[in-house]
Amino acid sequence: MNKIIRIAVDGPSGAGKSTIARKVAKKLGIEYVDTGAMYRAVAYKMTSEGIGPEEGERIEAVLKDTVIDFDQGVITVDGTEVESKIRTPEISEAASIYSALPPVRASLVQAQREIGHRKSVIMDGRDIGTNVFPDAQYKFYLTATAEERADRRYKELVERGQEVVYEEILEDIRQRDHNDMTRVLNPLRKAEDAIEVDSTHMSIDEVVDFIYDRVV
Ligand code: DC
Repeated sequence: MNKIIRIAVDGPSGAGKSTIARKVAKKLGIEYVDTGAMYRAVAYKMTSEGIGPEEGERIEAVLKDTVIDFDQGVITVDGTEVESKIRTPEISEAASIYSALPPVRASLVQAQREIGHRKSVIMDGRDIGTNVFPDAQYKFYLTATAEERADRRYKELVERGQEVVYEEILEDIRQRDHNDMTRVLNPLRKAEDAIEVDSTHMSIDEVVDFIYDRVV
């Protein structure tokens, strides 16, 4: 099959997009691109260089000199793997701030389009079906209630031995939903032609099969 296919998976934080997209990519033998990781990588680079979100010109200059890529599915910044560094609460918060900035979005959207022009991809994020690839052949909007998403996150963290408070996780999810849905530039919303999948009462494999069955 030589035809390039593009699958967009958008939705709020904690809906299971990356777990599901990764599994669908494996079943289809295509590339998975985690665009949230790219925004996290930018937030990581800016904060480690001490560049604040108000420093537009410095941000643009640094973006021009920064290479964000994936090496066998693992995110790299300037050739160095940063996976564990970008999955902290601090970077989650910073990513939601830096991802609203026009130069950051322009640079990452361009990089995402370049990847999707070269090969078949399943890309997850907030604005893939609405902005990055409005012409994607397949679009899914993956949701679950905020309570269910907080519950999943809570269980995941408890399993890792962390002490966490459910109400705080729920509040954090609500805050991130608000930031992502109300920002001026490319806010999170369902593309008109996206298939909505409410995973509140579905298992991971049920969602994977649902998407896979519509694509093959
Ligand atoms: O999916 P995530 O939590 O790793 O995303 C990190 C941040 O990046 C989150 O605040 C939303 C933002 N983001 C975005 O604005 N556009 C995307 N396509 C993907 C993520």
